[in-house]
This record gives sequence, structure tokens and C-alpha cells, in this order.
Amino acid sequence: MYKTILSLLLIGLTGAAQARGDIEPLARTCNGCHGVGGVSASGPMPSIGGLPKDYLRQIMKQWKYGERSAITMDRILKGFSDDQIDDLAEYFSKQRWVPSPQAAPDAVLAKGKTAASANCRDCHGLTGNDPDVGVPRINGQWARYMELELMKYRSGEFKMTHRKMKQAARDMKPEDVSATARYYGAQSK
Ligand code: HEC
Ligand code: HEC
Repeated sequence: MYKTILSLLLIGLTGAAQARGDIEPLARTCNGCHGVGGVSASGPMPSIGGLPKDYLRQIMKQWKYGERSAITMDRILKGFSDDQIDDLAEYFSKQRWVPSPQAAPDAVLAKGKTAASANCRDCHGLTGNDPDVGVPRINGQWARYMELELMKYRSGEFKMTHRKMKQAARDMKPEDVSATARYYGAQSK
């Protein structure tokens, strides 16, 4: 009896995974690293729930087709169809963005805020929660992750596609990189 129920359940699950429109089972495979609903429990894993759909779709396709550098994601996405990537982008864009504010010393926050006001606010907003269309939110994103990304945008060795973001990252003073990441990471709203 138990076995029958179990196999019925399994058939049900497989069926659900194959039908387009039910992306949940596939999205759950992301939980181990990105957290339930795309809310990561710790850096360096980024939260992804509530980011703009077009941004999610675009970067995942760039990884799949080898146009963008990554440590992990390019390998994960190679096995996915474009339709699955579209559905995942839609699914995660519909989740709520939940900031994970991380404490930092006042002096670091002040330094980061000055740099953010001068160089980042136009596109991300002063606290990172009021971005331009297509720009990811970064309020309460994990600072460790953001610092690593900023280093990628600054370095010539990584394939990063967004020209203006690359320029903004390269215009930063080296000593501001970590402070700015920690400033945005500290934002609760
Ligand atoms: C083994 C851990 C792991 C798993 C599983 C994983 N990711 Fe990731 N993800 C990462 C890492 C690490 C990064 C940072 C980019 C990189 O270097 O790979 C990342 C970055 C991302 C980003 C960029 C976030 C941003 O703020 O720009 C998106 C989107 C993403 N992953 C989506 C997914 C989706 C969708 C799945 C499930 C199909 C998934 N990931 C599964 C580790 C993982
Ligand atoms: C001209 C608009 C613009 C400016 C100015 C700008 N950004 Fe960005 N930022 C973007 C866009 C667009 C992306 C996504 C780019 C991509 O697809 O690679 C991004 C991505 C990021 C990411 C990665 C987020 C993630 O979820 O993976 C971080 C961190 C970041 N920006 C921080 C900053 C900081 C810090 C500054 C100021 C020094 C800054 N940005 C200035 C537009 C901008």
C-alpha cells in the first residue's frame, strides 16, 4: 500500500516537472544554494527572489551560452532549455525581495554611502531598492557576494557584458569597493 502511494506520488511529481507552466520542482533545485523562494541564508550566495525578470533571463542565457563568466552557474545552466530558463526567470521574479541586512561599522557605512551617492545612486538608488528598469536590487543583498561581483566587473579577466556597470565599477577607488558593498548590504529597506 505504502509503496503504491509512493509510486503514484512519484509519477505525479515527474508529470508535474514535465508540464510547462509548473516550474516549482525545477525551482526547488535552486534552494540548496539560493534559499527557499530565492532568499539566500548567507553570502557568498546571492538572493535571487524578486529580481527583474528580464535581468534574470538575460544573465542566465548569457551563462548558458558562455557569454558571461561564472564560478558555478554556467555549468548548472548548460543542461537547461531556453524555455526552462524563461520559466525560472518568471518564477523568481514573482517572489518577494527580502533584504538580509548585515551589520557594519559606522565608518565603513559612511565611506560606502559617500561612494554610493557619487557613483551608484543614478541606477541602483541610494539604498539599492529603487533601481532603474532592468537593474537588480542590491539593498540587503549579501555584501560578500557583491564584493566578488564588483571585482569581476573591475577585472579584465572575467566576461561581464554590461558596459556601463563595468565602467562604474572600474571608476571606483580600490579602497571603496568593500565599503560600498557593505553599505548596500546593510540596508534593511
Ligand atoms: C551549487 C550552488 C548553486 C545552485 C544549485 C544554483 N546556484 Fe545560482 N548562483 C550560485 C553562485 C555561486 C552564484 C554567483 C555566480 C557564479 O559565480 O556562479 C549564483 C548566481 C545566480 C544568479 C545571479 C544573481 C544576481 O544577483 O545577479 C542567478 C539569477 C542564479 N544564480 C539563478 C539560479 C537558479 C535559477 C538556480 C536553479 C536552477 C540556481 N541558481 C542554482 C550558486 C548556485
Ligand atoms: C549606469 C547604471 C549603473 C551604475 C552607475 C551602477 N550600476 Fe551596478 N548594475 C547596473 C546594471 C544594469 C547591473 C546588471 C548588469 C549585468 O547584467 O551584468 C548592475 C549590477 C550590479 C551588481 C551585481 C548585482 C547582482 O545582483 O548580481 C552590483 C553589486 C552592483 N551593480 C553595484 C554597483 C555599485 C556599487 C555601483 C557604484 C559604484 C554601481 N553598481 C553603479 C547598473 C549600474
